[in-house]
Amino acid sequence: MSKTPAFTCTGCGARHRKWAGRCDACGAWNSIIEEAPLSSGPGAPGPRGRSIALSDLATAEAPPPRAASGIAELDRVLGGGLVDASAILVGGDPGIGKSTLLLQAAASFARSGLDCLYISGEEAAAQVRMRAQRLGLAQAPVRLGAETSLRDILTTLDAERPRLAVIDSIQTMWLDTIEAAPGSVAQVRAAAHELVSFAKKRGVAVILVGHVTKEGQIAGPRVVEHMVDTVLYFEGERGHQFRILRAVKNRFGPSGEIGVFEMTGAGLAEVSNPSALFLSSRDAPAPGSAVFAGIEGSRPVLTEIQALVAPSPLGTPRRTVVGLDSGRLSTILAVLEARVGIPFTGLDVFLNVAGGLRVTEPAADLAVAAALLSAREDVALPTDMVLFGEISLSGALRPAAQTENRLKEAAKLGFTQAALPAGSRHGADAGMALRELADLAAFTGDMFGAG
Ligand code: TYD
Ligand code: MG
Repeated sequence: MSKTPAFTCTGCGARHRKWAGRCDACGAWNSIIEEAPLSSGPGAPGPRGRSIALSDLATAEAPPPRAASGIAELDRVLGGGLVDASAILVGGDPGIGKSTLLLQAAASFARSGLDCLYISGEEAAAQVRMRAQRLGLAQAPVRLGAETSLRDILTTLDAERPRLAVIDSIQTMWLDTIEAAPGSVAQVRAAAHELVSFAKKRGVAVILVGHVTKEGQIAGPRVVEHMVDTVLYFEGERGHQFRILRAVKNRFGPSGEIGVFEMTGAGLAEVSNPSALFLSSRDAPAPGSAVFAGIEGSRPVLTEIQALVAPSPLGTPRRTVVGLDSGRLSTILAVLEARVGIPFTGLDVFLNVAGGLRVTEPAADLAVAAALLSAREDVALPTDMVLFGEISLSGALRPAAQTENRLKEAAKLGFTQAALPAGSRHGADAGMALRELADLAAFTGDMFGAG
């Protein structure tokens, strides 16, 4: 192997002969790090490797043993509980409530008999203890440590051998073998690698906390994501009390699953019926409001889409979106103009998902279009109506998955009618009056007498 140092861009993976502030290949700044040359490899000198044992695909495999925390919203997002020796990353904005969630989770696991260690690199033990007391968790048998030196932490974990170790946060951990500041890509990567290897070798489950910014730019979670088994993101708007724990990746369960919490004065409270909560603040019939019957993970969730349309004083009217993809809004506006003949030129458009949830399902299109039209025409939609369906570029409505689950959830919450794509019903209507629509023009004709 060559002895020349290798430098790699952490952004695009390009190799460089020497360090530079900016990567020529992808243009990213401060992304180049020195890689230690590999000591072994297929062509490396030294003794031959041993042959590995191979098996077939048919061998019966028992499902991995799991421990439930008793916090149902967390257990479901984990895929049914914590898997032994698994590595989990919990990412999120600073201040969103990661430490609170994990302290509550650690206490809950510990109370159900799991030996649990909580290592804080951000707060002193006294601070964590004060928070635990405020949360009413002081009696939980969690063992607490405040440390940032990974060497000391690994030695401690090796001696104590807990079932679960929470590391809060990976950005504060440092290895003395790496000459870089804590929080740098090199340190975060190395620390995560050490902890994940330790988890696998010693059978200790580890939960790593990682801070991200809105853009996900900060060194951390993104470089750790591929090393761990499970990636959970804790999301929410700072001004709202709702918090959503979302499984982005899960080797031991379905991804896309969400858990809903509410931040209260006494920590995070589980929200087992999110639809009721997201709709609870809905006022009397108002133009610009439409209820979307969505699916988040395995669960139906109803959310209110709100739109405001007003004449714009600007040359380029404003398009402001919270909780939805802004590209999707542009597409829907373009379809409304081109296929239904309803232009939004010269109008400012504001779109918002109430409650702070982020909706990513394409089936939200119809509810978005309905909210926009309702705001533009100043006509309120019936308050007992839900909508769902994806809008294609031709203006046609595409059937959505899990129609029956959506309708059942809506019926449960007192809704009596639904607008949905034609052909999505397979017999079941959950007792709702259904308006089955072939395309967006049919919908506008039906609701607003236009199109
Ligand atoms: P924290 O868990 O420290 O966030 P993170 O670890 O993600 O940085 O939570 C910080 C916020 O949560 C803080 O602004 C105060 C709020 N909070 C409550 O509202 N209620 C509580 O019981 C606790 C412990 C925190
Ligand atoms: Mg914290």
